Amino acid sequence: MLLAMAAMTISALADEGMWIPMLLGRNEADMQRAGMRISAKDIYDINNACLKDAIILFNQGCTGEYVSAEGLFLTNHHCGYSYITMHSTVEHDYLTHGFWAMSRDQEIPCPGLTATRLVRMEDVTSQVLKGVSAETSETERASIIESNIRKITAKAVEGTHYKAIIKPFYYGNQYFMYVNEVFTDVRLVGAPPSNIGKFGGDTDNWMWPRHTGDFSMFRVYADKDNKPAAYNVNNKPYKPLKHLEISLDGVNEGDFTFVFGYPGTTQRYVTSDAVELAANIENPIRIDLRTIRLKHYNKAMNQSPAQRLKYASRVASIANGWKKWQGETQGINRLRGVEKKREFERRFQQWAANRPQYYNVLPQLAEAYKQLRPVEVELTYFNEAVMASDFMSRTLAAWRLANTDDELKVLEAVNKMKNDNEKYFTDFAQHTIVDRAIFIETFVYMWKAGYAPYLEGSEKTVAQIEKTLGKIYDESILNNQVKLKKFLDNYTAKSGKKLKDDPAVKLFDQAYTLAYDPQKLTAYRKAQQDIQRLMRTYVKGMMEMQPDVNFFPDANLTLRVAYGHVEGFRPRDGVYYKPYSTLQGIMEKENPDIYDYVVEPRLKELYNTKDYGRYGTPDGHMPVGFIATNHTTGGNSGSPVLNADGRLIGLNFDRCWEGTMSDLLFDPDYCRNICLDIRYCLFIIDKFAGAGHLIDEMTLIRSNSNEVQSE
Ligand code: ARG
Ligand code: GLU
Repeated sequence: MLLAMAAMTISALADEGMWIPMLLGRNEADMQRAGMRISAKDIYDINNACLKDAIILFNQGCTGEYVSAEGLFLTNHHCGYSYITMHSTVEHDYLTHGFWAMSRDQEIPCPGLTATRLVRMEDVTSQVLKGVSAETSETERASIIESNIRKITAKAVEGTHYKAIIKPFYYGNQYFMYVNEVFTDVRLVGAPPSNIGKFGGDTDNWMWPRHTGDFSMFRVYADKDNKPAAYNVNNKPYKPLKHLEISLDGVNEGDFTFVFGYPGTTQRYVTSDAVELAANIENPIRIDLRTIRLKHYNKAMNQSPAQRLKYASRVASIANGWKKWQGETQGINRLRGVEKKREFERRFQQWAANRPQYYNVLPQLAEAYKQLRPVEVELTYFNEAVMASDFMSRTLAAWRLANTDDELKVLEAVNKMKNDNEKYFTDFAQHTIVDRAIFIETFVYMWKAGYAPYLEGSEKTVAQIEKTLGKIYDESILNNQVKLKKFLDNYTAKSGKKLKDDPAVKLFDQAYTLAYDPQKLTAYRKAQQDIQRLMRTYVKGMMEMQPDVNFFPDANLTLRVAYGHVEGFRPRDGVYYKPYSTLQGIMEKENPDIYDYVVEPRLKELYNTKDYGRYGTPDGHMPVGFIATNHTTGGNSGSPVLNADGRLIGLNFDRCWEGTMSDLLFDPDYCRNICLDIRYCLFIIDKFAGAGHLIDEMTLIRSNSNEVQSE
């Protein structure tokens, strides 16, 4: 009975929402009822060091968290990926074999990488909207807001090294300012080998049960005053105001957890038309076109280690969207997402019947989507089909050059193309075969769907179109390294005309002219603007209609808190997913013949001897991952998953496939975030890699003994 009741409370509390740290007081009671033992002020407080000081925005797309007093932070392996590959060669292949700095001087600088700390945030709505009234036109409104923002941010950081940004919330009904400190000397400290950090690869991506050791470690360096500075050998490890304590207690089903990080984008409040467009029109096109590209890349990757390294990063990103969109569309349709939105819209319309400011908003939104839709589809084809091959991105550069008159720009473009030409062809010979196949197949797909009428001559068979495309590929100067070099070396004012006659440039021009027709584009931009403006009114109306609901603002790459519980789920009839996975599952998945499922000998050895040290469970298992009901999205990768005491228990890195519609529609029965258990992360660093010196920097706590293991 008690268990059943406990289970009921959990699902009633399994909450949607990504909350603003500064306003977390509003959620505090709910969070404490759900099990949290700390206060909202422990999480965000502008007067005292608090958990937010341990959180960083990793570049512009992931989250990281400090785990030592000396600037050491954790994020996901897939977030550090490009920096790990950047420093990898076939001889020193850190991606495959892992990398561990055994001393500070081995830590590798990562030019371009930033780690941003939020200093404070502020509601600046009234200042941003100063001078705006109900009568202000949209264009005027935009320019007033822009100029207000410029003044407010400049004033906020005057005399400091901080940077301020202001972002709209609820479609511009509210504005918050973020004052940030941006660190630029960030160095790679450690990354597990691929078959741990990416175990399961794209096969397991977005799926549970999961066994990926998705973490990497970096360190922030600062100048002698602990302030951000460009890379310099004399910089010192940064001393964060706060670093996270790590709990060795582990997780149990039903435990309270929260995720603190930078979710990128959600569209919780959009209309049924928007959901329909994304899930049932755009996603299927993108999925098909990426299936084509992946087929060719995967074939090449299986042919040699060099090619695997070459394509790894690009394939990971193509495959990531490809798989997510499939889960999203299925999830929306399973939930009858479009119909549910329509039902809500009918209720809204009834409520709005005698409210003139809201009465027209939904019909006008419907009209705007009608205008938007056809152009949106054309642009999707352009991005996913026309731009699918390297050939066409190179052609884009040539097309730009051919259409430039400005002498300086011509010179710049010619030089850049010369460099790219050398690089492109010396890279690897296999590539043009792969690229040619992708070019042809994606264009043919688009032509069959009716979006490339310019490909038609007198003949209209697929074979004919393929032949035409093959000829373009083979005859274009862009695919002849020697000829192209000579052409660029002797580039004159007259060369542009010749370039325009190149079959690839011609083809690109036709595709571009069709997709970017100025008249269509004007209508498209207007529709987008209308949608922005109307959504502002619609969301305001929604809030008025449901005064008791605490609405969370859509994610916009600002710091948020999501909370929930460790909880399994039923993905389909007859199946229940437990909320955690263990090393045993890695051994079950092991397959030396499949790249994604190769297990490191050293890891097997540790498994066989059950040498888990203090990281294993009391009953002798090595935990690897767990799932919870926290509402997360892209950007939350690397975010700390914290327990009721605000201690680190895991790293967020993914969502379960059956719940990937949560950017549009959250369902507590299906939506789960996937976390790396911190104990597996520590085990890999310590037992697998022998990098115990990094563990020594951390603060490990086991609550029953309250023992602090190291500091
Ligand atoms: N799905 C995760 C996220 O969206 C991980 C992506 C990287 N991993 C991969 N196998 N492609 O970003
Ligand atoms: N892997 C995602 C990221 O890069 C997180 C998964 C998600 O989209 O929830 O942020």
